[in-house]
Amino acid sequence: MERTFVMLKPDAVQRGLIGEIISRFEKRGLKIIALKLLQVPQSLAEKHYAVHKERPFYQGLIEYITSGPVVAMVLEGPSAIQAARSTMGVTNPVAAAPGTIRADFGMEIGRNLTHGSDGAETSAFEISLWFGDELDTWQRDQDRWILE
Ligand code: RTP
Ligand code: MG
Repeated sequence: MERTFVMLKPDAVQRGLIGEIISRFEKRGLKIIALKLLQVPQSLAEKHYAVHKERPFYQGLIEYITSGPVVAMVLEGPSAIQAARSTMGVTNPVAAAPGTIRADFGMEIGRNLTHGSDGAETSAFEISLWFGDELDTWQRDQDRWILE
């Protein structure tokens, strides 16, 4: 089953939206197989966003992500990567479809509430970076009512 790494960024935590946002992933049917709240060390932030190192927004992004606690999680399900990203909406909240997390709670790209892995390779890298290599799943009794 596919897995994806999702993070609720410091704005989501500070605004008291942890429950609301996690609930959307959970209700959709994505299964939470790992979850923690942490203050992101500078070194972890730099590794996570290494791909954006040369971008003009990189410094601001690192400051944003280390500015307060985040909630990190691993979600599992069929096409979990795409499902999580479509639940979040596109990067810029003003362009995101109404009903998505970023549209419903966000106004600017630099405060867009959530992160989700953008592909299989990124997902494997990010899950390993944030949670290590050994993650168990669990049997969810209601799966037969969510997955055919
Ligand atoms: P994410 O990685 O957070 O899931 O978002 P994404 O794939 O939709 O966007 P990505 O291109 O990977 O950008 C990572 C994060 O950098 C911030 N950003 N700011 N000021 C800007 O032009 C700008 N562009 C990107 C956003 O917080 C974005 O989520
Ligand atoms: Mg990205």
